[in-house]
Amino acid sequence: MKAKTKAKNEMKLVIPSNSANESFARAAVAAFMAQLDPTIEEMTDVKTAVSEAVTNCIVHAYRDTIGKIWIEAKIYEDGRLSVQIKDKGCGIPDVAKAREPLFTTGGSERAGLGFAVMESFTDKLTVRSAVGKGTTVTMEKRVAQRYRYDG
Ligand SMILES: Nc1ncnc2c1ncn2[C@@H]1O[C@H](COP(=O)(O)OP(=O)(O)O)[C@@H](O)[C@H]1O
Ligand SMILES: [Mg+2]
Repeated sequence: MKAKTKAKNEMKLVIPSNSANESFARAAVAAFMAQLDPTIEEMTDVKTAVSEAVTNCIVHAYRDTIGKIWIEAKIYEDGRLSVQIKDKGCGIPDVAKAREPLFTTGGSERAGLGFAVMESFTDKLTVRSAVGKGTTVTMEKRVAQRYRYDG
């Protein structure tokens, strides 16, 4: 079994599910990621994926209420970034079904493409959920290592 690699740097953030915090969370993760010296495209991919995951906490997990969202990001020696977004909201009864493109419980104003976007803009997506307990989404993005001056 592969040994678990230790993170080189990490950050944690706990925010209430106000809609204003969607852009804050996206910007915070992007600022943390900046130390990997990503391309604009890599940065945009992660911002888009984080935005979808946090929006899901706001609109689905805590539909008629405000709850906490936990965000944890880690950077590894090999240039990987992992971002975990967790809620203690309503949970998802069938994760495989929820991950299918166009599946939505959000009615006509939702496209049902959030998970598809997270999957295509990152290298790995895992979704763990339990009804009544909450949902944890973990995404991983490999940032191509280029020359960096480390002082
Ligand atoms: N954090 C979450 N908590 C509860 N349900 C969720 C969560 N994230 C996603 N879902 C469920 O998965 C479905 C698909 O999500 P997504 O692909 O982002 O599409 P959309 O948000 O447009 O519905 C949602 O409609 C919802 O039923
Ligand atoms: Mg969504």
